Amino acid sequence: MLFCIFGNPIKHSKSPLMHNMAFKNLKIDACYTKYLLKDSKILRKKFFSLDIKGANVTVPYKEDAFKICDEIRGIAKEIEAVNTIIKEDNKLIGYNTDAPGFFESIKEFDFKNALILGAGGTAKAVAEIFKEKTVEFSILNRSENRLESFIKKGYRAYSWSNFKIDRYDLIINTTSAGLNDESLPLKKEILEEILKNAKYSVDVIYGKETPFLKLSKEFGLITKDGKEMLLNQGVLAFEIFTDFRFEKNLIKKEIQKGLNL
Ligand SMILES: NC(=O)c1ccc[n+]([C@@H]2O[C@H](COP(=O)([O-])OP(=O)(O)OC[C@H]3O[C@@H](n4cnc5c(N)ncnc54)[C@H](OP(=O)(O)O)[C@@H]3O)[C@@H](O)[C@H]2O)c1
Repeated sequence: MLFCIFGNPIKHSKSPLMHNMAFKNLKIDACYTKYLLKDSKILRKKFFSLDIKGANVTVPYKEDAFKICDEIRGIAKEIEAVNTIIKEDNKLIGYNTDAPGFFESIKEFDFKNALILGAGGTAKAVAEIFKEKTVEFSILNRSENRLESFIKKGYRAYSWSNFKIDRYDLIINTTSAGLNDESLPLKKEILEEILKNAKYSVDVIYGKETPFLKLSKEFGLITKDGKEMLLNQGVLAFEIFTDFRFEKNLIKKEIQKGLNL
């Protein structure tokens, strides 16, 4: 059985290490590879021509993946983005494991409300899982144009220009600020006011300590980067790939080994 991850860029992806380690140690005759997809229009065709059983989809194709599936299951319907696809009876079934993977990664946090920084695909995933779990949340984005879909759903969504500082227990950075630069996701003086009253901060970026997490630590917050989210979304995708045959903790142990390589 062949599996892969589609994206652009894709070189950095840790998913092959994670899944191959679990396939090997759980004695599944399968292989997981990377595919640099340059054009989303050929995603569906490639899925069939490569004869793969399942795939993950990453930046910038999660919304395209949602559109090319024959059936969407679970929270992906609300998010309108898919990061995991499985082929069943020659039909493509789409799931989103980022959202439950994120929620699993913050399960030990005791918080009443949250502020999501950013309004892109990851912010949507976080917002929808919060809605499902009845967590109170607001969204704050640099510009207005991405807020429309959140406002239409009745969510509290602000841009930098109409935001009024409030108290939030948990702050989540879903923007790409800090990924390839040293920028903060929000003006420093406003972010400091927010962090002053917060308990936890999470950055979905992994592999580095972002300026957002550094500043959060200076304010004494409990912090977490995106590594656990990555691990958990992988575990949930692996369960789908292997038809829920293995115990979650067993998968987690093996995927963690791959992630640590
Ligand atoms: N840990 C994991 O498993 C995991 C999973 C998925 C994604 N991620 C990470 O999540 C991040 C976001 O991905 P995405 O797909 O949601 O991105 P996206 O859809 O492109 O959205 C990016 C968002 O970031 C905002 N933004 C970008 N640069 C900014 C800056 N300098 N200051 C303030 N806001 C800024 C944008 O605001 P505007 O609307 O104003 O442009 C937009 O709201 C990436 O770093 C990705 O690697 C991690």
